[in-house]
Amino acid sequence: MAAVAPPSLDLARLPRHVAIIMDGNGRWAQQRGLTRIEGHKRGKDAVRAVVETSRRLGISYLSLFAFSTENWSRPRREVDGLMGLLRRYLRTELRKMMKNEIRLVSVGDITRLPSSLREELEQTIDATKDNRRMTVVLAVSYGGREEIVQAARALARDVRDGRIGPEAIDESVFSGYLSTRGIPDPDLLIRTSGEMRISNFFLWQSAYTEIYVTDTLWPDFDEQHFLEALAHYQRRERRFGRIIEHAERERLRAAR
Ligand code: FPP
Repeated sequence: MAAVAPPSLDLARLPRHVAIIMDGNGRWAQQRGLTRIEGHKRGKDAVRAVVETSRRLGISYLSLFAFSTENWSRPRREVDGLMGLLRRYLRTELRKMMKNEIRLVSVGDITRLPSSLREELEQTIDATKDNRRMTVVLAVSYGGREEIVQAARALARDVRDGRIGPEAIDESVFSGYLSTRGIPDPDLLIRTSGEMRISNFFLWQSAYTEIYVTDTLWPDFDEQHFLEALAHYQRRERRFGRIIEHAERERLRAAR
């Protein structure tokens, strides 16, 4: 097995939750004269590697933006290809998820998926629901704004029906209406292929998330790139809007 971590990585200070916008599959394929779906196929291999590394390092939550609400407007052939890859991923990875005690959950509107794929996804989620070592959050047909609107609608219904009063609504109550309820906010958001955008991913959840953007295209994002992103995260100061104490700043500086 490959080296676990570069010397600069402190295994005691890993992010608890890493979220990834996996971008650049199309460009990777185009650069090689391949079809876009070939790029996505290689992207699926990169997913496998990042899940394995996360599990080995002890990262508790890994969220992957696999398909956005906007992706439905891509050409039919590409959408079908991506659905096929998701199906294959679920089939080939289930055994590994069980062996490595990985729980799979999904966020997003899975009612829009082809019904057989939706069933397979639900079966995988059910089969892995008691696994406790790591959670993989698959964002499929997911949009951050849509998620917030859904939460607002559900909350409005509860207010209308007298289950909660308007004054009782605070950030923590609102979070409980999101599809990520029970999952800590991401500490680190990685985006590949250079674009400096959040692209409607985890809008609420990323309020204080450290963002790491790399020019590497997703299919090329291997274990070393992932470890570099984690090391970069550890060199950042996380302040959550506060003024950092002098001693803490010195400690962080010394750790660099
Ligand atoms: C963005 O690249 C990537 C996607 C829209 C899909 C991501 C899917 C995978 C990595 C493979 C399947 C996933 C799983 C979990 C099995 P792009 O097509 O927008 O690239 P471009 O910006 O270069 O065109």
